[in-house]
Amino acid sequence: MLKLVNITKSFNLTGNKEDNRVALDHINLEINDGDFVTVIGSNGSGKTTSLNIIAGTFMPDEGDIILDDKSITKLKEYQRAKYFGRVFQDPMLGTAGDMSIIENLEVASLRGQTHSPIKWGFKKSHREHFINELKRFDLGLEDRLNQKVGVLSGGQRQALTLLMATLAKPKVLLLDEHTAALDPKTANKVLELTERIVTEEKLTTIMITHNMKDALKYGNRLIMYHQGHIVLDVKGEEKAKLTVEDLLKLFDDVSI
Ligand SMILES: Nc1ncnc2c1ncn2[C@@H]1O[C@H](COP(=O)(O)OP(=O)(O)OP(=O)(O)O)[C@@H](O)[C@H]1O
Ligand SMILES: [Mg+2]
Repeated sequence: MLKLVNITKSFNLTGNKEDNRVALDHINLEINDGDFVTVIGSNGSGKTTSLNIIAGTFMPDEGDIILDDKSITKLKEYQRAKYFGRVFQDPMLGTAGDMSIIENLEVASLRGQTHSPIKWGFKKSHREHFINELKRFDLGLEDRLNQKVGVLSGGQRQALTLLMATLAKPKVLLLDEHTAALDPKTANKVLELTERIVTEEKLTTIMITHNMKDALKYGNRLIMYHQGHIVLDVKGEEKAKLTVEDLLKLFDDVSI
């Protein structure tokens, strides 16, 4: 359902030809409906750039992005926002700290809609829906709807961002090291929550992580980037058989 066809992206900060950095080198990738893909790869290998190209943050130099058989390459980031939910590494991104939890959720539920269908009379049921969703998180956020998001912990804020990113069911959920800034216990909690939401909502998901165990534990498919190329793409049984040692060996092999 999501296809990256021959995607190439270079960055050049100086304008000198010798400073050209190829971040993605003719990438081809087809994500199927319902895939939960974990993505690993060394620093600077092109993982985040891929998500930026998918979401429309950057335009590719070459290639096409196809969603449900239609090219979205020329659509601007805001025009694609209705298709993609996104959670970043930094808990400060994704939520507005000076707005309350309920205000953040209201804004998120409008994502991708040009005309607000929410009338004042519907607000109550909205509120109940939000409370029910937040209860599933088991973080006590349902009792703090009117508090500013700025007072929440990083983990609470990432959990809220995750809910906001999935509230208006996205075609693809894009997670970029979304638990990397959290302590191990909270990271696990947010990951479990991620899996639950992805499974319950049947969300097609791409999750970047530097944690090999998480990359193996979650999802049905695993992709590895190296220097702007996809060097591994395994799914199902083949993925289930992989071990952390296998992945470390692969890292060694491609780095030679
Ligand atoms: N906005 C930008 N301007 C200039 N160069 C960039 C920009 N974004 C990415 N790059 C370069 O593109 C390459 C790929 O970066 P990218 O952020 O995709 O890596 P990554 O795989 O996400 O790495 P990490 O694991 O460190 O997050 C790197 O060489 C990086 O410096
Ligand atoms: Mg990155």
